[in-house]
Amino acid sequence: MRSSFVTALLCLIATTCAAPAPGKDSDCDKTVKPGQSIQKAIDNAKKGDKIVVEAGEYYEQLTITTDGIQLIGKGAKLFPPKNYTKNFCTGLSRSFADGSETDAGICIHGKGFVLAPYDPKLPEHLKISKVGDYIKNVVVTGFNITGFNGENIALIGGKDVKISKNNLVDGTQYGFLTVGSIDTNAENNVITSSTLSIIAMCMDDKSGATFKNNHISNYYIALCGQTPGGELKKNTVKNCCIGPFIDPGIKGMKIIENTITGRNPYCLAKDGAGMVILGASNTIVERNTFESIQNNKTGVGIFISDDPVSGAKASGNVFKKNLFKFNDLDIFNNATTTDNVFRNNECASSVPDGLCNN
Ligand SMILES: *[C@@H]1O[C@H](CO)[C@@H](O)[C@H](O)[C@H]1NC(C)=O
Ligand SMILES: *[C@@H]1O[C@H](CO)[C@@H](O)[C@H](O)[C@H]1NC(C)=O
Ligand SMILES: *[C@@H]1O[C@H](CO)[C@@H](O)[C@H](O)[C@H]1NC(C)=O
Ligand SMILES: *[C@@H]1O[C@H](CO)[C@@H](O)[C@H](O)[C@H]1NC(C)=O
Repeated sequence: MRSSFVTALLCLIATTCAAPAPGKDSDCDKTVKPGQSIQKAIDNAKKGDKIVVEAGEYYEQLTITTDGIQLIGKGAKLFPPKNYTKNFCTGLSRSFADGSETDAGICIHGKGFVLAPYDPKLPEHLKISKVGDYIKNVVVTGFNITGFNGENIALIGGKDVKISKNNLVDGTQYGFLTVGSIDTNAENNVITSSTLSIIAMCMDDKSGATFKNNHISNYYIALCGQTPGGELKKNTVKNCCIGPFIDPGIKGMKIIENTITGRNPYCLAKDGAGMVILGASNTIVERNTFESIQNNKTGVGIFISDDPVSGAKASGNVFKKNLFKFNDLDIFNNATTTDNVFRNNECASSVPDGLCNN
């Protein structure tokens, strides 16, 4: 049997720790059991360490600031502690109900970033005012995270961070929010709410963000797109008010092969569409399905508009090979521009006429 001394020695050899044999956990894995603190394991972890959290309930807010940490849940459920403690993600978003600062379940952040002061004109979350050192290569996977009053997972200033196979339930403001990051990857997560929470997933990143194969339901906005060139691919959206919402001034987002169905009965009567492009440009919207977006005869599959507030034009957007079924109205292009392109969309109704089946 190997002595703990040898194990410790092996752990000093970085390559041994960083690259365990395929299918076998490294000797350097840390295991957290119910009753133990996940944060303590994170605080003791070094760059590249893997932390396995066993099945059970954990009542903690977590902060990750070390590169390369892999946090792996094996049936682990994370809930808010009795009282929140302030950390870097506190106030990243505010309660839409009463304006109070909220907290995240898992807060992953780079060092030296500064968040801009709260701006009531941009109420949904804070922006970055100063870029610092990115936190790199963090992985969070396999967690069930429930009921944080801000984001169930928040990322600020990440690079190559991967969030996968988590169940994010009842994150009041967001399921997952990434701000000011590069090459964020969120895939195969399930994001839902038992009421109707605000935003399931949001990318307000610098570049390279991809949200893929996520399953979203019961959120007001399923996917918020605020990253130039960001990609929303093969996600399913059910019973939300708005599927992808692409923000004013955002260029070149790609919305590919998503399936958006139904409309939540609690959406505000006038609100909602399968997808909204508000003053965004050069978006590629291809091979998505919009189905059963019905709202007392005014439900819309895709709604396109200039932004009345900033004046940003919806321009150069391309809508190709999308499939529309059982919507009150399939496409409503209310932009003043004439350079949005509609090709081979399988649909039955549009305003203005003529956007279908070209
Ligand atoms: C995690 O959440 C999902 C969806 O809510 C649920 O089906 C699954 O049983 C949960 N896992 C655990 C370990 O509680
Ligand atoms: C939590 O906060 C409440 C109200 O601020 C306070 O009365 C209570 O002592 C706190 N509990 C703990 C465990 O800190
Ligand atoms: C549906 O729209 C009609 C016409 O605008 C309105 O009179 C009616 O109250 C609406 N019904 C519901 C359930 O909102
Ligand atoms: C469409 O655009 C016009 C202005 O160009 C505006 O008055 C109207 O409210 C818009 N309709 C919708 C549904 O946004």
